Amino acid sequence: SFIVSKLNKKKMLRRWTGQFVGYTLTFAGFDALALNTLYNKKIVAGVGRAKGVGKESDIYHAIDFEENEIMLKINRTGRASFQQVKKRRDLLKGKFHYNVFSLAELSSKREYEVLLKLQESKLPIPKLLGRNRHIIAMNVIEGIELVKVQNLKKPLKILERVIEYAKILYHKYDLVHADLTEYNILYNEKKDSITIIDFPQAISTDHPDADLILERDFNHLFDYFRNKWFISPEVEDVVEYIVGKK
Ligand SMILES: Nc1ncnc2c1ncn2[C@@H]1O[C@H](COP(=O)(O)OP(=O)(O)O)[C@@H](O)[C@H]1O
Ligand SMILES: [Mg+2]
Repeated sequence: SFIVSKLNKKKMLRRWTGQFVGYTLTFAGFDALALNTLYNKKIVAGVGRAKGVGKESDIYHAIDFEENEIMLKINRTGRASFQQVKKRRDLLKGKFHYNVFSLAELSSKREYEVLLKLQESKLPIPKLLGRNRHIIAMNVIEGIELVKVQNLKKPLKILERVIEYAKILYHKYDLVHADLTEYNILYNEKKDSITIIDFPQAISTDHPDADLILERDFNHLFDYFRNKWFISPEVEDVVEYIVGKK
């Protein structure tokens, strides 16, 4: 039909031929569906330039209907395997094209639910504005990833704050971040404040490996603080401090 070939031209659908001719939705098409819904829900009025392309998501500047700047996190879980599949058409006969998008949507939904649970907390996290499919709309966090910070006057104070946040997350919200790295902590130099982001992989403290994953988080984070800021805290102590005696 006319619409199908138009969408194909815009690369929102992909035409493929095998035993029969078919079309499969691309990420661009899935984005358009989600953005259209966010527009109709009066959450996103327009999309601007890309802020960054992560491993698991793309971050875009956008505006809401009051012309405030907002941020879109477009989940790309499964994108790598999607590229693989493009090269091997035969796999498209299955439900793979559907599953790729449901993986991205699932991850996005998971992140949204975790952040929703934390909205009323005093934890410094992004403020949610809405979600559809694999896209989360949130406020813009002023700050840069800790890994890019060149001057940190009081690194120990920042680390202590991260530990306090992890403790609140653990006891008050029964969660372990599970990817608490120098990439997912944004630092605002003016305010000397931090914001914790990127929650799709957060796990419940009921998970049998929760404490091990908490230890892994701090192992990694302490490596960063040791190598970059020359402070050497003990991982065992901090895990005990956060978890408490069981
Ligand atoms: N709300 C936000 N405000 C400003 N920058 C953001 C925001 N959310 C994400 N970013 C930037 O985009 C990067 C990727 O986002 P993140 O949530 O960590 O996704 P992922 O690591 O899964 O790709 C972050 O490291 C940060 O620099
Ligand atoms: Mg990240």
